[in-house]
Amino acid sequence: MNLVSNGIKYNKTGGTLGIVVSKKGSSVVMEFKDTGYGIPEDQKEHIFQKFFRVRGKNTQEVSGTGLGLFIVRMLSDKMGGAVTFKSSEGKGSTFTVSFPLKKQ
Ligand SMILES: Nc1ncnc2c1ncn2[C@@H]1O[C@H](COP(=O)(O)OP(=O)(O)OP(=O)(O)O)[C@@H](O)[C@H]1O
Ligand SMILES: [Mg+2]
Repeated sequence: MNLVSNGIKYNKTGGTLGIVVSKKGSSVVMEFKDTGYGIPEDQKEHIFQKFFRVRGKNTQEVSGTGLGLFIVRMLSDKMGGAVTFKSSEGKGSTFTVSFPLKKQ
């Protein structure tokens, strides 16, 4: 839910959020691809930290606590999953969560 809400909150008017769920090898992979503001290069390393929020001209009016991605990563770690992202400032972001289908 946080990845969906982020893909909407940090998007532009008329932007899109695409969600694709697929099976790759022995994993299920969920991709959340938005056409939003993107994340500045120098802040990328911080976004999974508790209470961290990017402060930029587009995002300062958007409300949030900065806990969502911290929780996404914590829960995914506990379930043996992995969270990665790619983002380009001004163009958009893609967050990917994958979980093994079989116990390893
Ligand atoms: N899809 C995205 N596009 C652009 N910036 C994003 C995106 N997802 C996260 N961010 C940036 O990372 C920060 C942390 O995201 P996170 O979901 O942890 O917190 P939040 O959305 O601010 O608050 P909440 O706790 O309500 O989820 C956001 O404040 C935003 O600056
Ligand atoms: Mg959030």
